[in-house]
Amino acid sequence: MSANCSGKTDKPDRLPSDTADIPPTEGIKYTGSKLRLLPYIIGEIRGLQVRDILDGFSGTTRVSQALSQLGYDVTANDISEWSEVFGNCYLLADKPDSFYQPMIDELNSLPGYDGWFTEHYGSDDPQGKMPFRLHNTRKLDAIRDRIDEYGLGFTDKSVLLTSLILAMDAVDNTLGHFAAYLSGWSARSCNTMKMRLPKRFRIKTANSVTREDVFDAVKVRHDLAYLDPPYGSNNEKMPPSRVRYASYYHIWKTIVLNDKPAVFGKANRRDDTHDKYASSVFEDFKKDSEGKSIAMQAIDKMIAETDSRYILLSYSSGGRAAKEELSEIISSRGRLVSAKEIDYRKNVMSSLSRTKEWLNDTGKHKEYLFLMEK
Ligand SMILES: C[S@@+](CC[C@H](N)C(=O)[O-])C[C@H]1O[C@@H](n2cnc3c(N)ncnc32)[C@H](O)[C@@H]1O
Repeated sequence: MSANCSGKTDKPDRLPSDTADIPPTEGIKYTGSKLRLLPYIIGEIRGLQVRDILDGFSGTTRVSQALSQLGYDVTANDISEWSEVFGNCYLLADKPDSFYQPMIDELNSLPGYDGWFTEHYGSDDPQGKMPFRLHNTRKLDAIRDRIDEYGLGFTDKSVLLTSLILAMDAVDNTLGHFAAYLSGWSARSCNTMKMRLPKRFRIKTANSVTREDVFDAVKVRHDLAYLDPPYGSNNEKMPPSRVRYASYYHIWKTIVLNDKPAVFGKANRRDDTHDKYASSVFEDFKKDSEGKSIAMQAIDKMIAETDSRYILLSYSSGGRAAKEELSEIISSRGRLVSAKEIDYRKNVMSSLSRTKEWLNDTGKHKEYLFLMEK
């Protein structure tokens, strides 16, 4: 949604109405975030004899945050640096708010300056086409450098970085990712970014946070593995390199690392999101010589190698995954306990008595949850 600075406000992130007993979670705008699916994911897990859970592609960590609050020991794993930071903030940091608040107050009071972020991501041009207004990138430059000067350990630093990322996410000029920026300025981009204490909860469970390739993470034994892999984009016009998670959210990685990388293209993406570097195998929708999709073979291998009694697999109809192949994988790698189809726009869930049922469905906004027992 784009508007001038005097224009209307952007839509808030809304929860569906039946989530009263779902613990509150926090996160950035994220393609594939399972915020709206939390009631269904939790509904599948409740009632199973499970205590510790791997969230193998944790992204925003919303699923991990909810599960930890419900009493499960959670391992949040994702390949991305900023997800590791969020995991540390919500699942591991156990100092009281009073430890972080004075630093957040000081960071909010810093006068901004023109640094690396302002040079690459700030503008006041009426045309927009940049992710942030200058007054916000100037603050970002000053705050990010000051955070390093505190010399904190990684977990405490993660609380401040999470706060900073949430503050910048609230004033961006995008449609939810950083592969392209809006013309003109969204209403929210005109606001002044402000860091706030992340809404952490009291940690009562034994959590861990890892930043591993999922193929390593699934080898560790858990009672249940929740697996929500990327399924690519159904936007055929987009080259795959543009729609990878690393390309979409490059800016959060740069804020975490503060490494001032070489950038390229109109969106000033980090050089390490370039086509010349290998993407996640789950985002590779090429076929091999036998006509099988490389991504589907990766899902097959992942499920085969998962050392957990239960696997809860997410699938979204918005992706390019071949349904037939996925159906075969599910039925050949274990016992299907349940298959659920969710139309979260309508807040409707139905059980599929046989996996095959979903193959003929052409609905565009369906989410599926497959619970398997190995
Ligand atoms: C669909 S999103 C997960 C969303 C998450 N469940 C949530 O609610 O926010 C897929 C995630 O997979 C991660 N990813 C991609 N390839 C990976 C790999 N090989 N190992 C671990 N994580 C990977 C991406 O960084 C991305 O966060």
